[in-house]
Amino acid sequence: MMLGCVLVLTLLISACSQERVGRSSLSQIPPHEAKLEKVSYGSSEAVATAHPLATATARKILEDGGNAIDAAIAASLMLAVVRPQSTGIGGGGFLLFFDANRSTVRAYDFREWAPQKISADFYKLPKVRSQRCALDKPSVNGPHAVGVPGLIPGLVATHQAHGSLPWEMLVQPALEVARNGFTVYPALARAIEYRQAVLTCFESSRELFLPKGKPLEPGSVLVQENLARTLETLSKDPLDNWQKGRVGRDLIRALENEGSVMSAKDLEEYQVRQRQPLVFSFRNILIASFPPPSSGGVHLGQMLYMASMLTEKRNDVESNWFDEPILRHHWLAHIMRSAFSDRAHYLGDPHTATITPQELLATEYLDNKIRRLANTPPEEQRYDLPSESPETTHLSIIDRFGNAVSSTQTINTYFGSGMIAGDTGIVFNNEMDDFWTGGPNAFGLAGSQNNAPGPGKPPLSSMTPTLVLDPSVSPRTAVRLVIGSPGGPRIISATFLSLFNVLIRGLSLPEAVSEQRLHHQWNPDILYAESPSHALSRALERLGHHVEKSNFFGDVQAIGRMENQQLVAVSDQRSEGLSWAR
Ligand code: DON
Repeated sequence: MMLGCVLVLTLLISACSQERVGRSSLSQIPPHEAKLEKVSYGSSEAVATAHPLATATARKILEDGGNAIDAAIAASLMLAVVRPQSTGIGGGGFLLFFDANRSTVRAYDFREWAPQKISADFYKLPKVRSQRCALDKPSVNGPHAVGVPGLIPGLVATHQAHGSLPWEMLVQPALEVARNGFTVYPALARAIEYRQAVLTCFESSRELFLPKGKPLEPGSVLVQENLARTLETLSKDPLDNWQKGRVGRDLIRALENEGSVMSAKDLEEYQVRQRQPLVFSFRNILIASFPPPSSGGVHLGQMLYMASMLTEKRNDVESNWFDEPILRHHWLAHIMRSAFSDRAHYLGDPHTATITPQELLATEYLDNKIRRLANTPPEEQRYDLPSESPETTHLSIIDRFGNAVSSTQTINTYFGSGMIAGDTGIVFNNEMDDFWTGGPNAFGLAGSQNNAPGPGKPPLSSMTPTLVLDPSVSPRTAVRLVIGSPGGPRIISATFLSLFNVLIRGLSLPEAVSEQRLHHQWNPDILYAESPSHALSRALERLGHHVEKSNFFGDVQAIGRMENQQLVAVSDQRSEGLSWAR
């Protein structure tokens, strides 16, 4: 496998120039049931997101002449309204964009940063540890959990660089749904119930999600007037209003009132970073994924390489190991375990890292890992994975020009910090928990000093927005796959397994996404399996694994281009998202 951070793909730039799109006003979002499916087929454009209203919004923008970036911005803002447990303008994310016109991949990093006053031992300070409502875990709950949010600066940056419809038009659908309300679905109601202790602690969160002291029930209507007002303000001069205007001021005031160390300067100095996407070649195709501060691209590359090499009869492994469920679980668990051990030891802020992605992806290094695959030393300390339910969201879009967006966005765990900023309607993230603060984080992830908190640092992420590209065809049809998932560390395994199923096992995309999943993150030393049969669990135990049944394995949103050039968009059947294609 030849690896390299190749920014400009060696694709021929076709003569097709990007036609200017029309500026028709956005009429109504189509009823979200119309033509949306779990699996959709089309020939020119496709969308997969985690909520029908977000898919319908992206569809409408594409139908009204917008491009993939326009559709991604409008869908992201809609997800912020209808998935307040997962994402929002109080959070951040990563976005990969394949620009068919220039034949390049761009990687936008709008992940949260630590405020300037956060130091390595911040979470050990007594004043930080003692919180009102007796909230424990200050990196998870309340004001000290909040990183400087990046979603609005990120969306604005992508719009300025690649958008074609007016920004105001892209905000409108989300604004309308915030103002008029949407129906609470079971997963949202469960999330409110799950986090009610923290939500109850903060007045604005309590009023919105627990009116009359009780969690909202499925079928009730959630109207977010405050968020609608904020979106209205942000529909003009969004960056100014976010950083220095009304929204920014209200946001910082709300944090200061709760004792947060974040300041107006933190908000003003926040910058979206363009990273070099991590691009590696794999069997005649190119895979572009996210570099640090995400660990996703590195481990995706490691895992795909190891799995591919194992098909070439290494370690005396039968080359058809992946056809047989026991051997498949066994070797995939070892591959994941080996990659996640590197995550814990080496990765963190790319500006201070002592080891590069290229070193972790070097074939010599990986060949050596394969030789030791079944013997990756476990961590001494063993602990159970905390039961904190994870959240986040992913969206995948291809437009008629052949552009593609793969973006994962998050406020981290359910409702992030649990705090809504005063009367802005913005739910604050708890991304600070993705740093290593001495013990396992909300996902049970171990870490090292490489991922210690520090002023202006981004915490290490697992988000893995990914594009698979065929460099041998014209840019208009070069995108073979657009994929990603939520799930904390399970993002990496869900994305890897889906790609493994397509690229190595040869399954179709819908089959690949619905296949039984598993997850191993080195520590705790447990193989999490999705609905394993008794016989499978017993057989894996006999091979030395500690097997646990688990029921959360991400929510993949993916689009594939098949050999006949048709598009297939797939929204994971594990969740409530829907796809659309035409
Ligand atoms: O950046 C990360 O890796 C986490 N903050 C993502 C959290 C997440 O995916 C929760 N999941 N569903």
